[in-house]
Amino acid sequence: MEVIIMPTAEKAEQLAAAIIADALRQKPNLTLGLATGATMENLYHKLAEMNKKGELDFSLCKTFNLDEYVGLPAEDRNSYRYYMNYHLFDRINIDKRNTHLEDGMAEDLEFECAEYERLMEEAGGVDLQLLGIGLSGHIGFNEPTSSFSSRTRAVNLTPVTMAQNGPYFDPAKGEKMPTRALTMGVGTVLDAKSLLMLVTGTRKADIIAKAIEGPMTSMVSGSAIQLHPDCTVIVDEEAAAKLTLKDYYRSAFANDPKWDAYRNI
Ligand code: F6R
Repeated sequence: MEVIIMPTAEKAEQLAAAIIADALRQKPNLTLGLATGATMENLYHKLAEMNKKGELDFSLCKTFNLDEYVGLPAEDRNSYRYYMNYHLFDRINIDKRNTHLEDGMAEDLEFECAEYERLMEEAGGVDLQLLGIGLSGHIGFNEPTSSFSSRTRAVNLTPVTMAQNGPYFDPAKGEKMPTRALTMGVGTVLDAKSLLMLVTGTRKADIIAKAIEGPMTSMVSGSAIQLHPDCTVIVDEEAAAKLTLKDYYRSAFANDPKWDAYRNI
């Protein structure tokens, strides 16, 4: 695992955008695994900006999102389909037929999840999977105790996640956060050819330290990234606060030729 500490969230998002952009330039028909959440918004806007300037072409790109709420239709402003359209897909030249999220309205959720796995396999697997981490330690919606070999399935959200995402739902408008979601499994995530995790802000400092430097445990699903042979974690200084090997991470980023092109971001 490579850990890169950037001075600010803005710089962290810029670096993540640059890495994704380069992967797409190298492989125009890249299959991208995507995440939603507050952390990713600016990153998506940066990718959209590059696309608008003609620096990046999404016309052959395929995407698979990590998760979707059960019971929210695509038009619901709290659905992850809505989020993705709003923050990325409607702003870039991607063919919407190549964008995939689980259907949280499917009648047969088990079939929907098996079909999602099949579609990913048919696409040749995910090349680059973008990840955030939740306050419960989840990646996707893999809450504590999710098996490291779990696949796409319906899950129940923990009180920590209900508290994290609850504020997006406005009871005055009759909105209620679903307690269930469909999510790629931890095993599904680990099948991606490479992982890119982006984590920013003070409130994530404890959980990201556990995921990167703590023992691997299903109690912190994010710690499963330690098993992946090609995983980069980008954090800002605030999220890096509780890491014990900060000096090592800084020196590795400063000296490894792999990062030459990215140091001046
Ligand atoms: C959402 C997802 C989640 C989020 C995590 C962090 O698709 O995969 O694991 O990445 O909950 O969310 P934010 O960025 O809102 O703190």
